[in-house]
Amino acid sequence: MTHREFKSTGIEEQAAFLARQFEARYGRAPTWLVAAPGRVNVIGEHTDYNGGFVLPMAIDRYAMVAAGPVEAGDGVGEREWFWVSEQTLEPLRFSTDEPIRQGLPAWGNYVRGVVAGFQDRGARVPGLVAVLRSTVPMGAGLSSSAALEVATAMLVEETTGLRLEPVEKALLCQRAEQEFAGVPCGIMDQFVSVMAEADALMLLDCRSRVTESVRFDSEDLAVLVADTLVRHALTDGSYAARREQCETAARFLGVGLLREATLSQLEEARLRMDPVLFKRARHVIMEDQRTLAVVESIRYGDWAAVGSAMYGSHESLRVDFEVSCRELDLLVDLARSLGPEHGVVGARMTGGGFGGCTVTLVHTNSVEEVSAHMTRHYREETGVEPVMFLTRPSGGAQVLRTVTENRSRYFPELNRS
Ligand code: GLA
Repeated sequence: MTHREFKSTGIEEQAAFLARQFEARYGRAPTWLVAAPGRVNVIGEHTDYNGGFVLPMAIDRYAMVAAGPVEAGDGVGEREWFWVSEQTLEPLRFSTDEPIRQGLPAWGNYVRGVVAGFQDRGARVPGLVAVLRSTVPMGAGLSSSAALEVATAMLVEETTGLRLEPVEKALLCQRAEQEFAGVPCGIMDQFVSVMAEADALMLLDCRSRVTESVRFDSEDLAVLVADTLVRHALTDGSYAARREQCETAARFLGVGLLREATLSQLEEARLRMDPVLFKRARHVIMEDQRTLAVVESIRYGDWAAVGSAMYGSHESLRVDFEVSCRELDLLVDLARSLGPEHGVVGARMTGGGFGGCTVTLVHTNSVEEVSAHMTRHYREETGVEPVMFLTRPSGGAQVLRTVTENRSRYFPELNRS
């Protein structure tokens, strides 16, 4: 892996590139340009829908949309949405004049779902033409879908003037994913895409929906994302099955949410409980504890404790929650085998699981060595070249450009910090 691959292009460059693509296609500059980031979750996995704690950060990779009102000659109806995307061949087209339903192409359901959510709130959504470009790898556990939903919400806000509070907006996007994509997801991904702060992790209490910023800006620490390239859609039911098992376990323990159960309560119920439900509940209860402990450890700079919590989380996801896979385990083991002597703080799978990515915290001057080691051994064992990139905690979704009759904002709030 070369050094060049570590760098992701800045948001300004990505935006300028997309604006040029829009111009090339439509012969005019885009009226709106919005961006919403993907995320990596540092710890707190499969806890969000149990009302627990999560500690994600937004990454500097975005779903970005350049759009403009429909003009004569575009070949698009006045109240139609027409999107093209670099990543997929099939454009998205639907009318905002009639009730919006799920349809093809499948990626468009994230967009449709969000527009439908705004319509339910009384928004009259005008037609538009748009070019989408996402640098969040798809289906990799980095919330490419939440990024697309949140970018769509930003765009609808700009085009209709109906602006939502951040929490409402995130919840609207979550509902779009649940109802239009059929994944009964929690709130983590959409919350962090909307509300993340640069240079900080976001501690989110998923029951109260209160967020707290955890500074994470040391030049000495890098966040290395490693993609197994194994893809397993969360729509296939394994995610929904985990959620259901958690709900059943909570009912068995007599609590509304697993977040409210204690380890001693669980131990006490052990013999009466289905062993699978027991394991699922143990993961959730322990993962909440680990997440809160990691926040404290980061504040004290106790990186050894952060590392062991990350490995503990991975183990628990592998054994108790059963959402890991051989390739994720391999990448975590490879990082772990290098250990602190070679600059590795900790590693674990990130996101829903069944493939996707690991997150490794590594000291900056060891990045080359660690990634070379992981790449080489992963390739030898699997025959596949993993994709690796460095990222840093980035800000949440933003409007990069919006032009109105007497007001024009060009890339105004870039690098908000
Ligand atoms: C997916 C879901 C999130 C969360 C994670 C697992 O990313 O969208 O809500 O449940 O899986 O932590």
